[in-house]
Amino acid sequence: MRKEQLLKRFTEIYGDGGEIQCFFAPGRVNLIGEHTDYNGGHVFPCALTIGTYGAIRRREDGKLRFYSMNFEKMGVLESDLSHLKPSKEAGWSDYPKGVVWAFEKKGYSIPQGFDFLVYGNIPAGSGLSSSASLEVLTGLMLKESYGFEKLSMVDIAQIGQYSENNFNGMNCGIMDQFASAMGKKDHAIFLDTATLQYTYAPVKLDHAKIVITNSKVKHSLVDSKYNERREQCEEALKDLKNVTQISHIQTLGDLSRETFEMYEAAIKDPICRMRARHAVCENQRTIDAVQALKAGNLEEFGRLMNASHVSLRDEYQVSCSEIDILVSLAWETPGVLGSRITGGGFGGCTVSIVENDAVDMYQSVAGESYEKQVGHRAEFYVVDIGDGAYAF
Ligand code: GLA
Repeated sequence: MRKEQLLKRFTEIYGDGGEIQCFFAPGRVNLIGEHTDYNGGHVFPCALTIGTYGAIRRREDGKLRFYSMNFEKMGVLESDLSHLKPSKEAGWSDYPKGVVWAFEKKGYSIPQGFDFLVYGNIPAGSGLSSSASLEVLTGLMLKESYGFEKLSMVDIAQIGQYSENNFNGMNCGIMDQFASAMGKKDHAIFLDTATLQYTYAPVKLDHAKIVITNSKVKHSLVDSKYNERREQCEEALKDLKNVTQISHIQTLGDLSRETFEMYEAAIKDPICRMRARHAVCENQRTIDAVQALKAGNLEEFGRLMNASHVSLRDEYQVSCSEIDILVSLAWETPGVLGSRITGGGFGGCTVSIVENDAVDMYQSVAGESYEKQVGHRAEFYVVDIGDGAYAF
């Protein structure tokens, strides 16, 4: 999306005049470390070059006006600074509204309203974080337009998460907003979600590509199933904290696999035990995978991705038949080093590491077989890793 196109549509919708500022915030793909971020574990996502573009102009009154080039039929959605409540009619605008609300809650008062226009090129329902990118976009826009200079990009990620948790009712962790705000071209972010300490790891692979495969399915009740997983982990943690020897732990991420195995019997509910086992082992896999990548051992990285999928499928139970088909097809293709579900689950995308020579073969063989088995086509994207949110 070029700046001129965005500005042109903005003035068509809202009229000429005043200062209009433009911003972009990317979506993300997570390479490994799934459902660890709300368990104080590690994640390893990277920002994509697709995401959400936005243009904003401040108003003199308290009105908030929203327009999406993706949902033109919805027209201009209106709200007011004094009435910031989620509503069914608000549709997608509940995300930016939530961020305004969260700014107020955190003490960054927005004195006047704005006109806001967005355009996103993340495929709908793909699990590549279109909502987090919209939240980070809104956060950056508010910071720049209303002069909150002290706010860092990490603060903006945290405000985005806060609004999604408390305004939109999805109890997500920090990974998606962090990746959208803090991404770096050609790098993945190795983030410790307990401390928010992070390092960038170069992911310019010489002989392989990262390929996202979109199953084009999104099963219903994703948010409630996600929140349920989170509660199950919290229950497991509560039981473990009752064990004197490990009563000091703050999160499941504080446990090594060995210590967990020693005390896992203390978790009363077998389902919660299984969920916790995933969280602890996935955290270890993520740490190991980053080490393997640094050592140039892509085969080991791929093996850990595969193990991550098995655990998400069998222990965390957030996969689905369509995704399992895609992953199996990838595993069967020579030259695919690793493949797994990525993101929250219950549909969405897989992420695979595929040797350069095998990329075409993987797309055609897996694509054809998937269509035969499922009845619709998958979509493939060879990933470019981009920067975090910026003004342009
Ligand atoms: C969603 C959430 C993230 C994270 C992933 C699973 O994308 O928004 O915080 O929990 O699921 O890893």
